[in-house]
Formats: sequence, structure tokens, C-alpha cells
Amino acid sequence: MFITLEGPEGSGKTSHIPCLVEYFRERGHVIFPTREPGGTSIGEQIREILHDLKNTEMHPRTETLLYQAARAQFVEQVVRPRLALGEIVLSDRYYDSTIAYQGYGHQQGLEQVRALIKYATGGLVPDLTILLDVDVEIGLKRKQKADEWNRLDAYTVDFHRRVRAGYLEMVKQEPARWRVVNAGREWQSVQEELRRVISSRLPDV
Ligand code: TMP
Repeated sequence: MFITLEGPEGSGKTSHIPCLVEYFRERGHVIFPTREPGGTSIGEQIREILHDLKNTEMHPRTETLLYQAARAQFVEQVVRPRLALGEIVLSDRYYDSTIAYQGYGHQQGLEQVRALIKYATGGLVPDLTILLDVDVEIGLKRKQKADEWNRLDAYTVDFHRRVRAGYLEMVKQEPARWRVVNAGREWQSVQEELRRVISSRLPDV
């Protein structure tokens, strides 16, 4: 089972994953947490380039392609082998981030972006994708406060508004794969809802 968490900046995805992993492991599930961009040594090196605040000259096409390069490695080195072992792979972001950020945010042309994603992933689609949805201004403030500011966070508020709207559009287009969790609430309520949503899709162990 391949589960991905998505969301605009400051939606809190990253803080929820360790607690979800602990919860499901205690219940006997074999669950492997990972993240994009990254998850592999090559991917983490590409992440450094992508997030480096100094790389202000990066063109959106360069950005789009670097994410796909990291992703191809991630799918082949991490996701497919783990799925083949019957594990649950829980990823902090996957290709829907490219559609939201590079497609909607940078307006890179959704058809082209989708074609690149298909090439990078070999067509591997998650079984479940959860959108942690949060108001753009609240999310950006949270990230600034947490001192986790990266090169993409510095894009305009309008960029981040397009990202969020893009996610909501994707949910409409593929409702069977997506679940939306309101991440504007208190952390514990969000964690509990995430547990419920994921549990409802897992086989009994
Ligand atoms: P995060 O790990 O703090 O969520 O940072 C990842 C950043 O990378 C975030 O700003 C979203 C961005 N991103 C893309 O723009 N496209 C992608 O395909 C992925 C995976 C991430």
C-alpha cells in the first residue's frame, strides 16, 4: 500500500508522520516512512540544490526536471522494492507536489508536467493521497516561525495560493484517491483524523 501526504507550506505533514508510524507499528503494520524530494542519497543531494536559498536564478523548468530526477531514483530504489515486500510506504510528498507547485504554481503546462511525471515514476500512482489543507497565510507563518524556510517558500503569496487551489482541483478530479483533512485545527485532532483515514484503508493484521 502506497500512501502519500500532500499539502501547501506549513500544513504540518512532516510533524505528523513520526507519530503515525509509531501508531501503526504498535498495531502490527510494517510501515516505511520516507519523503520527497529525498528518500535516497541521490535524492537528498538534489534536495540540497532545490532548496538552497542561494539558487535564486533557478528556472522553473530546471526545478521541474530536478524533482523528476530525484523522483525516478526514489521510485526505483525505495518505493517499488518496499511495496514488493508488502510494506506500507508512507511518503511526505510525491508527484502531486509537482502538479501543484510546478504545474499550478509556476504554470508550467499541466500536460507536459504530467508526461514528465509519468516518465519519472513509470506510472506508479499512490493508493491513497491525503491533502493536509491549510490557509496559505497561516501555513507560511507557521513555516517562518519554525525556521524551516526554503527557496520555494520565498515565492510570492499568489504562487502559494495557486498551489493550494491546484491541490483542491486535483481532489475534485480524482476523488477516489484523495482525502482532505483540515490542518488548520489543533494538532491532536488532525493526528486523530489522519489515523482514522489511514486505518480505514489498511487490511486487518
Ligand atoms: P517540505 O519537505 O518542507 O515540504 O519541502 C519540500 C518543498 O519542495 C516544498 O516547498 C514543496 C516543494 N516541492 C515541489 O515544488 N515539487 C515537488 O515535486 C516536490 C516533491 C516538492
